[in-house]
Amino acid sequence: MKFFLDTANIAQIEEAASWGVLAGVTTNPTLYAREGGKLADFHAHIQRICAIVDGPVSAETVGLTRDEIVREGVELAALAPNVVVKVPVMVEGLAATRALFEKGIDVNMTLCFTVPQALMSARAGARYVSPFIGRFDDISEDGLEHLGNMIIALNNYDFGHPVEVIAASIRHNQHVVAASLMGADIATVPFNVLEKLVTHPLTDRGLESFLADWEKVKNS
Ligand code: G3P
Repeated sequence: MKFFLDTANIAQIEEAASWGVLAGVTTNPTLYAREGGKLADFHAHIQRICAIVDGPVSAETVGLTRDEIVREGVELAALAPNVVVKVPVMVEGLAATRALFEKGIDVNMTLCFTVPQALMSARAGARYVSPFIGRFDDISEDGLEHLGNMIIALNNYDFGHPVEVIAASIRHNQHVVAASLMGADIATVPFNVLEKLVTHPLTDRGLESFLADWEKVKNS
């Protein structure tokens, strides 16, 4: 499993990149707004992220028609070689994804909640398919069960191009653990989850006792 950061926060991206495990970043309009982002700065902000991250950076379109989405997608893809155009799954989004695919532009199809949405995203040419987990949990459905079903369905077919599943809308470690056991290619996680993924109380306790014992060695 590869680890992506789900944020538009530059400091968090720089910090995670320094850990040596960051394989990509996903953003969306909400995450950019959370950083106080202005429309005029959007492209520059994406370019800044692309310069930090050695991997795909998803930047989302907001158009509602095929032509608007394609126009935005072409603009976004021109910002940096590692931009991936994030497109919501809907009829116009599928049509735009096909057009972007034919132009050689990678698409991350987002807001996937069902098996047919995931299959159609891949069929339209999406390079990445993003099932959301946590938002199912928010409405008392089992987001992981839906994720597992989408992975199984996608693995049943050859789409003629690479398709990777990005487990998204992740809220805690168990989402990541289960997604990895199900074979999700990527987990995109908020920074607070990424931090928690590194730690365990037994690791802390073990390190503490190793260091205490080393003090005895040094003083012997
Ligand atoms: O990449 C977008 C997705 O991860 C959104 O997560 O927490 O807003 O449901 P959330």
